[in-house]
Amino acid sequence: MVTVNLRATTVAAVLIVLADQTTATCPSRFSWENNVLTKAAINSTNNAELFDFGPVEGTPASSKIIGGIPRPRCKTFPGDPLWPSNSVWNLLNLTLGGALIKTVPLAAPCYSDWPQYDAAQCEYVKTNWNRPQLHVEDPTSAMFPLWQGQTCMPLDHPSQIYDNCTLGGYASYSVAVTKVSQIQLALNFARATNIRLVVKNTGHDFADKSMGAGSLSVWTHKLKDIQYIPDYTCNGHSGPALKLGSGVETEEVYQAAEAHNVTVVGGECRTVGMAGGYIAGGGHSPMSSLVGMGADQVLSLDVVLPNGRFVTASQSSYPDLFWALRGGGGSTYGVVTSVTVKAYPQIPVSTLGFVFGTSPNVTADTFWAGVEAYTTYFDTFTAVGAYGYWLIVNIGPGQFFFSMNPLWGGNMTLAQFQPLIQPFLDDLANLGISIDPVWNEYPSLYQAHSGTFPPENVGGADNRAASRLFPKDNFINPTKRNETMAAVRYAVEAGGILIGYNIRAAPNSAVNQTNSVNPAWRETTGFFILAAAWPADASPAVIQAQSNILTNDWMARWRQVSPGAGSYLSEGDINEPNWQQSFYGSHYPRLLQLKKKYDPTGLFYAHTAVGSEDWEVEGQLPGLPTQNGRLCKKP
Ligand SMILES: Cc1cc2nc3c(=O)[nH]c(=O)nc-3n(C[C@H](O)[C@H](O)[C@H](O)COP(=O)(O)OP(=O)(O)OC[C@H]3O[C@@H](n4cnc5c(N)ncnc54)[C@H](O)[C@@H]3O)c2cc1C
Ligand SMILES: *[C@@H]1O[C@H](CO)[C@@H](O)[C@H](O)[C@H]1NC(C)=O
Ligand SMILES: *[C@@H]1O[C@H](CO)[C@@H](O)[C@H](O)[C@H]1NC(C)=O
Ligand SMILES: *[C@@H]1O[C@H](CO)[C@@H](O)[C@H](O)[C@H]1NC(C)=O
Ligand SMILES: *[C@@H]1O[C@H](CO)[C@@H](O)[C@H](O)[C@H]1NC(C)=O
Ligand SMILES: *[C@@H]1O[C@H](CO)[C@@H](O)[C@H](O)[C@H]1NC(C)=O
Ligand SMILES: *[C@@H]1O[C@H](CO)[C@@H](O)[C@H](O)[C@H]1NC(C)=O
Ligand SMILES: *[C@@H]1O[C@H](CO)[C@@H](O)[C@H](O)[C@H]1NC(C)=O
Ligand SMILES: *[C@@H]1O[C@H](CO)[C@@H](O)[C@H](O)[C@H]1NC(C)=O
Repeated sequence: MVTVNLRATTVAAVLIVLADQTTATCPSRFSWENNVLTKAAINSTNNAELFDFGPVEGTPASSKIIGGIPRPRCKTFPGDPLWPSNSVWNLLNLTLGGALIKTVPLAAPCYSDWPQYDAAQCEYVKTNWNRPQLHVEDPTSAMFPLWQGQTCMPLDHPSQIYDNCTLGGYASYSVAVTKVSQIQLALNFARATNIRLVVKNTGHDFADKSMGAGSLSVWTHKLKDIQYIPDYTCNGHSGPALKLGSGVETEEVYQAAEAHNVTVVGGECRTVGMAGGYIAGGGHSPMSSLVGMGADQVLSLDVVLPNGRFVTASQSSYPDLFWALRGGGGSTYGVVTSVTVKAYPQIPVSTLGFVFGTSPNVTADTFWAGVEAYTTYFDTFTAVGAYGYWLIVNIGPGQFFFSMNPLWGGNMTLAQFQPLIQPFLDDLANLGISIDPVWNEYPSLYQAHSGTFPPENVGGADNRAASRLFPKDNFINPTKRNETMAAVRYAVEAGGILIGYNIRAAPNSAVNQTNSVNPAWRETTGFFILAAAWPADASPAVIQAQSNILTNDWMARWRQVSPGAGSYLSEGDINEPNWQQSFYGSHYPRLLQLKKKYDPTGLFYAHTAVGSEDWEVEGQLPGLPTQNGRLCKKP
């Protein structure tokens, strides 16, 4: 048992002091980033063993955990003899200033054996379950309940499979962090006690990489600061920038940019965490065809390392980490507290929306010829900065529907946008596909985004997705285009739901694009997400079967027509074969080397994150890798 001297709590509770920052920062840190843990403060308590920093990066990791015990193969799990007693958790809570939360599943109010039981609240949770915001605002919930284990779905939800409510893949404790010292204490505590650590921001990741059974979660949602820097002159850059706390959501950033008459690169979903998983994973945007990936815009990041130290990563400070944090994936090299990104002057945006489908006048072959006609413009459109976000669904045998939501002309007036698009619309007309185009012009990204992008649904356990980054040659070369269209049509005919992006990661000399973004992005003009669906009450066997079809049949064909290309790690297949190559490409060896340098004990883990091949979550059905189990190093 871990025992502590509780008389020390008064010391521990005042252990946080302001440190002198020696690392140069430009611009200065947020005030809560100056509230850091110091070695002197740790020395002043007799609980140093619980809260001490790990060895300096690059030096050998400690082979022992608290009490001098050799580091076990598995992370310590609730119920284990080494799991901290309540008094230890109370001590942690005191040092954190009361920020420790004992986890309650979001849907616990539906279950009469939970103290949170509340029929009205249950109804609220059930009604809002498919809205991202519900999960964003919860300390531990994420948006893909399949990977949590569906152990506490709202009562009478179509995907409710158990009639009781248990924690499943949710963290055991969460820290609602509002200052850097709390992140440092949480990391040091988890490392010392050998408890699994997770980082939760909004919970948008397609594989629920923000959760894990028996874990301590660092919840970054409250780090909401946004600072506008009119002239950031630093790190070889000069011009407007925004410094973002890691809890800010896309729409909040768009609003701040709008207020200052600037434009920033963000995603299409309003609630994705810009400075968390979005930038860590690369970040695609309606702006990408113009100025590159989200990660390309980063000028510097502040980050708590796995050893508990707080540093700035930029071109001049920790350049190797700076490279890895821009594309190498979240929950891998530390907890990012803020990110400074380049801002551009405001731009006009023109948009086009339309739909078409099979009908008595439009055969299936004509429908697909219309889709193919669009793909012949992928390179032309993206080369001048346009972007398209669209959907194809199978609405019955041999019946299909296409929806453009929207085609987007960044930095284009309608007078510039319409002539660019007209040849494509002429092709559709020549095929006999008639559409009812809706054109709009907006004075800014924020207004165009608000005016066009539909809100998104999450929370279902009745489908899952995979994705492919198709190189531009797949749509330029007629033979390859023919093969690609055949593979795409095959999957949709079989019931796949296709969410497509016509997008490129534009080269941009105004920023440093030497980062770890998957090199496949640099070749892409078609990023396609494919989802497989099943009835909400499907048995695990049915889910496994559909799941296997997605990975091993539909996606296998997509991979076959795009050899050596990749997939997007933030919107990827949880069972992606050879995921190191698919998600990270040729950057993988260097990313892994840096993982070993900065996180030698494996404090950070996430499914398919760099270095995760050394670990497994126990007790999984093949093909259904939930986070509901103990995390162990592979034997
Ligand atoms: C509906 C929907 C729409 C989307 N649209 C887009 C889009 O337009 N463009 C795009 O590129 N992506 C999009 N995504 C994918 C999204 O970018 C990723 O899911 C991203 O990882 C979300 O990051 P998050 O921090 O909001 O979420 P989380 O799920 O909380 O975190 C994602 C991962 O990053 C880690 N992480 C989070 N914060 C930190 C931090 N501060 N430090 C270290 N690690 C951290 C987490 O541990 C986790 O591993 C979309 C996803 C959904 C569900
Ligand atoms: C903390 O204690 C260690 C060993 O007890 C000592 O080497 C170190 O100098 C101390 N550091 C500070 C800042 O007090
Ligand atoms: C931590 O302390 C706060 C404030 O004292 C309290 O509200 C909260 O319940 C405590 N958390 C735990 C896990 O005990
Ligand atoms: C909850 O239900 C599952 C499956 O029916 C069962 O295995 C488990 O023991 C139950 N847990 C509790 C706490 O009742
Ligand atoms: C933004 O631009 C508008 C129109 O040009 C102007 O009226 C407004 O003052 C500007 N706002 C800021 C914060 O610069
Ligand atoms: C980008 O940054 C790297 C270091 O991270 C540096 O070596 C390289 O020269 C920079 N490139 C440009 C174009 O500034
Ligand atoms: C189909 O074609 C006929 C004849 O050209 C036309 O009158 C009709 O409106 C078309 N229907 C649709 C749905 O486009
Ligand atoms: C938008 O277009 C203007 C004028 O053509 C150009 O100067 C500016 O760099 C463009 N902005 C972006 C973000 O591409
Ligand atoms: C591909 O080419 C074959 C043979 O030329 C043709 O029959 C087929 O219709 C083409 N498929 C697509 C999707 O264009």
